Amino acid sequence: MGFYRDEILPRFQDQVMGRTPNRAVRARVCEQLRGDVIELGFGTGLNARYYPPGVSRVVAVEPSKVCMRIAEPRIAATSIAIEYGGLTGEHLDVPSHEFDTALSTWTLCSIPNLGAALEELRRVLKPGGTFHFIEHGHAPDESVVRWQERMEPINKRLAGGCHLTRHIGEDIERAGFEIEALNTYYFEGEPKPMGYTYEGIAVSR
Ligand SMILES: C[S@@+](CC[C@H](N)C(=O)[O-])C[C@H]1O[C@@H](n2cnc3c(N)ncnc32)[C@H](O)[C@@H]1O
Repeated sequence: MGFYRDEILPRFQDQVMGRTPNRAVRARVCEQLRGDVIELGFGTGLNARYYPPGVSRVVAVEPSKVCMRIAEPRIAATSIAIEYGGLTGEHLDVPSHEFDTALSTWTLCSIPNLGAALEELRRVLKPGGTFHFIEHGHAPDESVVRWQERMEPINKRLAGGCHLTRHIGEDIERAGFEIEALNTYYFEGEPKPMGYTYEGIAVSR
């Protein structure tokens, strides 16, 4: 799986994640970012063009070197300073209470130890700092959940450890965030097991 995961998957990810329907959603999720931002799972830099002018710098956390290489022209095209912030969300090599806002788009599904990553995120956010996210996860309909459970093992193998059954809202709350806004829906055009969406903002208290 090494060559597939390291070399092929990042290019495939760039195509899939760069699809047109995702763009309006990225713009919406990024629009309230401000100040110093940490982005978990920076991927191929597809959010960079949507950082609003109130953002002073972005620290990008991303394990894939190939993703970071694909992101280079997108980083170069924005006037906002983007710094590399390390490999994994579970271990953030930054001081506590450093960031005003945090961003994650379709990443919490892939982080192996999600609880640890969310606790780290709370540590590095200032009190009152906000976490802006769009993720997919556990659906409310039993028939969809049955498919999610069937498909999850193969999905994890093919899609870089991507879980289908995470209870994203509950996971965020369990880490000590307070959910300020949460919109859940099936993403139009996505197969239901992959597309049950959690879009929202959580506050670190
Ligand atoms: C589906 S992609 C989404 C990428 C990007 N956020 C986007 O919206 O296009 C999931 C990303 O999570 C990254 N990832 C996987 N494990 C991670 C971890 N432990 N910490 C941070 N990011 C991780 C992957 O390398 C990948 O770039």
